[in-house]
Amino acid sequence: MNYRIPTGTKDTLPADIPRWHHVEKVIGSVMRRFNYKEIRTPVFEYTELFTRGIGETTDVVGKEMYTFLDKGNESLTLRPEMTASVVRSYLENNLGSAQPLNKLYYLGPMFRQERPQKGRLRQFMQFGVEAIGSALPEQDVETMLVAMTVYEELGLHGLTFKINSVGCPVCRPGYREVLVRFLNGVRDGLSPESVKRLETNPMRILDSKNEQDVAVTANAPLMKDHLCDECRTHFERVQRALGALHIEFEVDGRLVRGLDYYTRTAYEIQSGSLGSQNALGGGGRYDLLAESLGGPPTPAVGFAAGMERLLLVMEAEQLPFGEPEVLDLFWVALGEPAMTFSIPYIHALRKHGYRCDVDYLNRSMKAQLREANRQQARYVVIVGDQELQQAQCQVKNMSTGEQSAVPVDSVMQFLQSALPL
Ligand code: HAM
Repeated sequence: MNYRIPTGTKDTLPADIPRWHHVEKVIGSVMRRFNYKEIRTPVFEYTELFTRGIGETTDVVGKEMYTFLDKGNESLTLRPEMTASVVRSYLENNLGSAQPLNKLYYLGPMFRQERPQKGRLRQFMQFGVEAIGSALPEQDVETMLVAMTVYEELGLHGLTFKINSVGCPVCRPGYREVLVRFLNGVRDGLSPESVKRLETNPMRILDSKNEQDVAVTANAPLMKDHLCDECRTHFERVQRALGALHIEFEVDGRLVRGLDYYTRTAYEIQSGSLGSQNALGGGGRYDLLAESLGGPPTPAVGFAAGMERLLLVMEAEQLPFGEPEVLDLFWVALGEPAMTFSIPYIHALRKHGYRCDVDYLNRSMKAQLREANRQQARYVVIVGDQELQQAQCQVKNMSTGEQSAVPVDSVMQFLQSALPL
């Protein structure tokens, strides 16, 4: 074979699909109970939506976007995340005029040209929510609860939940000045990457993983200690609501997320089973994003979470992925007349709701029974020449080995009593 899959992407093979279905089902069920409605947007958008929305100085926009000119010379970008797309769609479709609060969720592929490693891909799946229209701190907490409920119902435990406040345009400029003054004082000890960030995005230096940066910024001033009254009140109310729910959290003053649109609340959920890419999901409030895209002032909060990482944790912790799906019935038809005779019965069983299959490889009876076993079929129906003549078939219960002759017309009835749907 001359072709291979692009670096940093993955095939999801049939054997992997039940795991995904299980996770998707739990996500869908949690979203329904929290009353979030699904939204789907295109996988590509005009590039400017992301450069404006996410911020030019972020790694995502600066280094990681899959951007291309289409044949009409338009610059398009494969979405690296969905918050900007959802807000674009919210504004473009006037969703705010239909109802003042839109609680939306999504699930889909995102694209970032990062250096691939465990838990880091170039095409990856996210699920996430965006609650657009509410400024209440309890709405922030509801989005956190959505994520935690999904993890809880999938059986994850021992997660670390970190929150911070990244302030707002009232308090952030003053803090930034204090921070830059501090960082300039330790400039010589910073990594070259962080020295560059000093000009563009100094707050990001605080969540650098570089040991040198961590050491010299140990006593750096933190945003959470420089919040304006409104931001502080908001942050305290988030913590009170989490307290009322008995949710353990850690206030991490160094948590600065990698996207520029955040205001006030920022949060991240981490797992110890993931190694260096330990963020299962993250989010926060982005009260200024709608305005920066040309819409009216619209408070909003949300999160997104990586699904491959979630599956890695579930595999590492050997969590159950639901019941494996098995065949209800494997129909062994021996020879063409038996096959022609059997097809309408198989079709009727399938339309009725049974999961049935038949052999299309003209194999021997022994090989077909082996196949039925491999597929863990609950029942096998056998129709050969002799059965054909008598319009009968043999029905075998694969778990007990019990076998009985049944008129072919009655297979449906037989199954209905043996395997009620
Ligand atoms: P993010 O932190 O960039 O936030 O991504 C959220 C999650 O997506 C990460 O915690 C991680 O689990 C997963 N993820 C990110 N990059 C990769 C990758 N290269 N490979 C595998 N998984 C990855 C956002 O995307 C924001 N839109 C979240 C948000 C929604 N904020 C407000 N609303």
